[in-house]
Amino acid sequence: MGKYIINGGRSLNGNVKIQGAKNAILPMFAGAILTGESVFIENCPNIVDVENMSKILHLLGADIERKGEGINITCEELLHNEIPARLAKELRSSVFLLGPMLGRGRKAKVAYPGGCDIGLRPIDIHLKALSEMNVKIQEKYGYIYCDASEMRGSHVTLDYPSVGATENVMLLAVTAKGTTTISNSAREPEIVDLMHFLNSMGAKVSGAGTPFIKIEGVSDLHSTSYRAIPDRIEAGTYLTAVAVCGGEVTLEDCKMEHLNAVVSKISKSYCKITEESDNINIIVDGRPCAMDTIDTQPYPGFPTDLQAQISVVASVAKGTTVITENIFEARFKHVPELIRMGARVKVRDRTAIFNGVERLRGAEVNATDLRGGAALVVAGLNASGTTIVNDIRHIERGYDKLEEKLSALGADIVKV
Ligand code: EPZ
Repeated sequence: MGKYIINGGRSLNGNVKIQGAKNAILPMFAGAILTGESVFIENCPNIVDVENMSKILHLLGADIERKGEGINITCEELLHNEIPARLAKELRSSVFLLGPMLGRGRKAKVAYPGGCDIGLRPIDIHLKALSEMNVKIQEKYGYIYCDASEMRGSHVTLDYPSVGATENVMLLAVTAKGTTTISNSAREPEIVDLMHFLNSMGAKVSGAGTPFIKIEGVSDLHSTSYRAIPDRIEAGTYLTAVAVCGGEVTLEDCKMEHLNAVVSKISKSYCKITEESDNINIIVDGRPCAMDTIDTQPYPGFPTDLQAQISVVASVAKGTTVITENIFEARFKHVPELIRMGARVKVRDRTAIFNGVERLRGAEVNATDLRGGAALVVAGLNASGTTIVNDIRHIERGYDKLEEKLSALGADIVKV
């Protein structure tokens, strides 16, 4: 596993181009196997999660070809209907391949995806929703066997607005006979993007972005060329980096509306954030102010995927900030590493109380998960002295050219 070596204390200035959204593109990859024609996703970042999803699709029989910024996927025939345990473990989000595998081939066998660095990640909501669509499900020896030969459009209600479960139902329902509705669906921008993507293939989906989605089944989907939305989590990560380093940065190609919850927490006296067409401009002068309380919620609440990064702003803010992680049960693994860098934090269950210090101190730290690892990079950019972040493969799952983009902004960071 590689590492980043960071010499902190430099301000960040210049422009950074935001990548295509990982969490929009992964379900689109899954959706691409719903047609035998070619599907081109125009703005695919070079990240490990996209690599792993490509490997799985290739195993299922798809041809995957990178063409410049984009990736072309053609699955003329579904050769297998099983996702091997090894790959399901590598890529948790492979669970929403269930929907399209059943939509295309009516049968699927997937290993229980198992937990990951941030929690148990059960899939009970997925399975309950699929069974409400009359998919027959058997679970044995750690595998899930699904048979969708008699599936039909149904009214599905999710007990919790699960992003993945919403996507799985959408991906199954687009070619199911009849109409499917999803109540209490997730409202993330990535769900809206998946709707537009599927409709560009000839699907009939409406209501994404609201708690009620309607899908009218169609018999076939056709080829498309589609540009995914910008990655709001990558953009938010850069916002927190500028917040703790100071400077003036323009984030190119990102939407303020996707980041309102984050912007409203960061932009206080020391920090001005403005939007110009599809760019966000942030100017930071001085030390961050405390942010009172931050509670992660489903969209449009504060995103859990930026909790670790905003906790670095809390670590060096003037005053006390209380952060509560309501979505995942184990998403504070970056906190002990921040404490080693001088942060003053108390954790009680799902709540972390930060008493900000003037500045963090460089240390050797280990990334434990994707967003926690990104937070340690942000911490290193602020810290005095040298910070070494180990196990950066976690970070490379979701950030394309992180060290290049930060160096171009004036950071002193190298990957070894
Ligand atoms: C998606 O994960 C994202 N991943 C996550 O981003 C993100 O943190 C999460 O949504 C919440 O926004 C992708 O889109 C690939 P959920 P997902 O189903 O679909 C529980 C990142 O860093 N739950 O909304 O797995 C679950 O355990 C990743 O890019 C059940 O209990 O999120 C969690 O506590 C991390 N049963 C909560 O719901 C289920 O069947 C939210 O999960 C499904 C979920």
